[in-house]
Amino acid sequence: MGIKGMTKVYGLFGDPVEHSLSPIMQNTAFQALGLDCVYLPFLVQSKDIGSAVQAVRALHLGGVNLTIPLKERVLPYLDEVEKEAEFIGAVNTIVNRNGRLCGYNTDAPGFLASLKAAGFNPSGKNTVILGAGGAARAVSFALAQGGAAGINILNRSVEKAEKLAQDLKAAYQVPTGVGDLSSDLAAALKGAELLVNATPVGMYPNHTSAPLLTRNQLHQRLLVCDLIYNPLQTRLLEEAEAANCRFLSGVGMLVWQGALAFQLWTGEKPPAALMEEAVLKALKR
Ligand SMILES: NC(=O)c1ccc[n+]([C@@H]2O[C@H](COP(=O)([O-])OP(=O)(O)OC[C@H]3O[C@@H](n4cnc5c(N)ncnc54)[C@H](OP(=O)(O)O)[C@@H]3O)[C@@H](O)[C@H]2O)c1
Repeated sequence: MGIKGMTKVYGLFGDPVEHSLSPIMQNTAFQALGLDCVYLPFLVQSKDIGSAVQAVRALHLGGVNLTIPLKERVLPYLDEVEKEAEFIGAVNTIVNRNGRLCGYNTDAPGFLASLKAAGFNPSGKNTVILGAGGAARAVSFALAQGGAAGINILNRSVEKAEKLAQDLKAAYQVPTGVGDLSSDLAAALKGAELLVNATPVGMYPNHTSAPLLTRNQLHQRLLVCDLIYNPLQTRLLEEAEAANCRFLSGVGMLVWQGALAFQLWTGEKPPAALMEEAVLKALKR
């Protein structure tokens, strides 16, 4: 389908955006449903976020996704921010409703949807998150919302984990723990059923560096989830496989956050399987 005068434009704002898989994923979805829409990458530096958001209004874009380093910085420029995104402190999707820009966070429900697709329900389960950055924030709020019995946040800088635990407790009645990424790991993993790596350790091009933990630290009741999707099989997931744990890559979260953004923009049921297929094809190229 060619671009015409009526074509609705969506996009991604971030820096960098060149390697993003979102254009492939969203354009596959638009085409599959025969929608007259197109999704483009826009390089937006942090200092330009205000004028870029204004451009969404001025250019009548249907909506945009936000990636590093804009997810937190965009909040003051929006007309409305949904409650969950406000709790998390990050917006990854803007919907333009007749010039009124509404911010959402689809990373958190996207993560929950990827767990569900893998047959894992966090309700009543003890969980461990490695990292306390943007992704860890979304995952921890998702787990709290999904009814986790406990959330242990382990980070290199413990103060940042403490801040996240405080924010979490202010929004949800969920028992939280904080600790150091290495010295508190063994205690945190005891009784846990989900381990999530929300650090970039193991991500391309540093995919051969040592994982944050090895097979002898894992037990078989754990689902080990790495939010990294490049490579698909990280060193951490290799350790999980060797320890006979179930494991999950970050592709599911990537696809579902995109699928939920698509749904917000179009009101249509997203073709998630096709979106995943497009992402996997691009990753294997
Ligand atoms: N699958 C998806 O859809 C999806 C979505 C979002 C993010 N992600 C992935 O999630 C990861 C984290 O992203 P983010 O946006 O949360 O990044 P971020 O905000 O920069 O946070 C990074 C976190 O990792 C920790 N960290 C960084 N380097 C480390 C190292 N060498 N050793 C130990 N800890 C280290 C940081 O600890 P300090 O606080 O001590 O610096 C921080 O807690 C990335 O790999 C990203 O690709 C995936």
